[in-house]
Amino acid sequence: MQLHSLIASSALLISSALAATSSTSGTLSSSCTISSHATATAQSDLDKYSRCETLVGNLTIGGGLKTGSLATVKEIKGSLTIFNATNLTSFAADSLQSITDSLNLQSLTILTSASFGSLQSVDSINLITLPAISTFTSNIKSANNIYISDTALQSVDGFSVLKKVNVFNVNNNKRLTSIKSPVETVTDSLQFSFNGNQTKITFDDLVWANNISLTDVHSVSFASLRKINSSLGFINNSISNLNFTKLNTIGQTFSIVSNDYLKNLSFSNLSTIGGALVIANNTGLQKISGLDNLTAIGGTLQVVGNFTALNLDSLKSIKGGADVESKSNNFSCNALKALQKKGGIKGESFVCKNGATSTSVKLSSTSKHQSSQTSSRASKSSSKAEEKNLFSDVKAVSASGASSSSSKSSTGNAAIVAPIGQITSFIGLLTVFIMSLI
Ligand SMILES: *[C@@H]1O[C@H](CO)[C@@H](O)[C@H](O)[C@H]1NC(C)=O
Ligand SMILES: *[C@@H]1O[C@H](CO)[C@@H](O)[C@H](O)[C@H]1NC(C)=O
Ligand SMILES: *[C@@H]1O[C@H](CO)[C@@H](O)[C@H](O)[C@H]1NC(C)=O
Ligand SMILES: *[C@@H]1O[C@H](CO)[C@@H](O)[C@H](O)[C@H]1NC(C)=O
Ligand SMILES: *[C@@H]1O[C@H](CO)[C@@H](O)[C@H](O)[C@H]1NC(C)=O
Ligand SMILES: *[C@@H]1O[C@H](CO)[C@@H](O)[C@H](O)[C@H]1NC(C)=O
Ligand SMILES: *[C@@H]1O[C@H](CO)[C@@H](O)[C@H](O)[C@H]1NC(C)=O
Ligand SMILES: *[C@@H]1O[C@H](CO)[C@@H](O)[C@H](O)[C@H]1NC(C)=O
Ligand SMILES: *[C@@H]1O[C@H](CO)[C@@H](O)[C@H](O)[C@H]1NC(C)=O
Ligand SMILES: *[C@@H]1O[C@H](CO)[C@@H](O)[C@H](O)[C@H]1NC(C)=O
Ligand SMILES: *[C@@H]1O[C@H](CO)[C@@H](O)[C@H](O)[C@H]1NC(C)=O
Ligand SMILES: *[C@@H]1O[C@H](CO)[C@@H](O)[C@H](O)[C@H]1NC(C)=O
Repeated sequence: MQLHSLIASSALLISSALAATSSTSGTLSSSCTISSHATATAQSDLDKYSRCETLVGNLTIGGGLKTGSLATVKEIKGSLTIFNATNLTSFAADSLQSITDSLNLQSLTILTSASFGSLQSVDSINLITLPAISTFTSNIKSANNIYISDTALQSVDGFSVLKKVNVFNVNNNKRLTSIKSPVETVTDSLQFSFNGNQTKITFDDLVWANNISLTDVHSVSFASLRKINSSLGFINNSISNLNFTKLNTIGQTFSIVSNDYLKNLSFSNLSTIGGALVIANNTGLQKISGLDNLTAIGGTLQVVGNFTALNLDSLKSIKGGADVESKSNNFSCNALKALQKKGGIKGESFVCKNGATSTSVKLSSTSKHQSSQTSSRASKSSSKAEEKNLFSDVKAVSASGASSSSSKSSTGNAAIVAPIGQITSFIGLLTVFIMSLI
């Protein structure tokens, strides 16, 4: 959406007229109205605004200028776009305090520095495809949306006084190593993805966020975070330690998936998850603990991996089903079976497996692909045997859920269709969103 409006305004770059209307010459005029798509392609075009403190309209800068400055303007009632100025090396607008609409810097191939030293207030900031930029300076106190994508920034520190943001999305900045922010609330989403895999994220003042999604991050610090209103996801990071000791509530899904270096979880104050809890394919996570205060899961519980222990000692209620599968022989299903027996697992399906049981499935149906396609009797009966073996001491084994899943596939895949679907569509959304930025 952002990109479209940028392209639209660049199409008008040559054709639209520059129409600065101001009254007195020599003195600063309080307000100059420019056309809704005014363009500047040289510093001389920008100099025409040197008598203006306020510009009313949308200004686009492009063409062949090498450096640019907008020295006197304090406010733009509209947007400022610098697009496809491929010879521009630096830009400064250090008097500018406010932009009521968006600030867009896009496709500036040799721009190394952009300085907006007084800029306090802007609706949206879009920094997109800035392969040479090393510094972006601002003093932003108020911004609704921040998108930083495909830049050469190593750190994001132009937002050191920002307390509240709607969307903060930083993606595909391959040189990024650190982001430190004093933001206290994120009313929509905080997303970091596909930046350099060495990125350290520090949001120690953040108290609540609607949702947070992190991919390809190296370390995180969220020392004050108490609540996630919607979803929290850690997917494919190189994080070794998730320490969220103040976090108490997650409104919807909580996912920890494919974090190969993850060793430690510490969510000691987390008591409720409104949606599903998915902990899957974290190859180094042997002992899943640090969720000692979790009492209720509003969706399904899905835990998949090579873990030896799953400690959910306070858990009283799972509204959905449970699908817990470990490759480890040492993992015991006893605690979950006891919870199920007490009626703590409300959903229809309940699957719990460890290394020993999956080995027996493999042994008894050697050609798994064949059997799942043809749904052979051999495979059906072997998985029924496995169920009996697992749940012999549980009366209401929720026969419907468990057996319907095993009739489709001997590994009980049906039970995990829903959560995987959620994750896939989430990644899909993320991809579509990122594609729309590029
Ligand atoms: C700036 O452009 C937006 C849409 O691109 C338009 O809605 C707005 O009216 C323009 N502002 C001015 C002051 O012309
Ligand atoms: C950039 O500079 C080069 C050489 O100075 C020139 O040939 C080219 O036309 C300039 N680009 C634009 C967009 O004006
Ligand atoms: C960017 O500017 C160059 C000229 O410097 C032009 O050929 C090209 O079409 C422009 N690209 C866009 C997307 O406007
Ligand atoms: C980070 O990325 C580099 C290059 O893409 C890769 O060689 C390295 O293994 C990655 N490190 C981690 C921890 O994923
Ligand atoms: C954030 O949460 C809202 C629900 O409050 C949801 O509609 C939206 O898709 C979520 N965004 C992301 C990026 O997860
Ligand atoms: C976890 O975070 C808390 C609060 O920020 C800190 O006191 C504690 O040392 C951290 N623990 C680990 C293991 O990093
Ligand atoms: C999220 O939760 C906080 C703390 O309970 C609340 O103040 C805020 O209004 C909620 N935000 C949304 C978007 O629901
Ligand atoms: C995780 O990252 C690796 C390496 O960057 C990539 O090949 C893989 O597709 C990613 N997996 C997911 C689930 O994003
Ligand atoms: C995990 O965290 C505990 C403290 O909570 C700490 O003692 C231990 O060293 C951590 N382990 C790893 C592998 O980081
Ligand atoms: C666990 O929950 C209890 C009661 O809800 C609370 O008193 C206690 O402080 C919590 N423990 C931690 C480590 O947050
Ligand atoms: C975990 O890995 C398995 C095998 O690679 C894959 O089939 C499954 O989809 C993964 N689970 C999740 C939740 O990503
Ligand atoms: C599971 O972890 C153990 C170490 O605890 C390791 O020996 C084994 O190879 C792992 N199995 C798989 C399938 O990853």
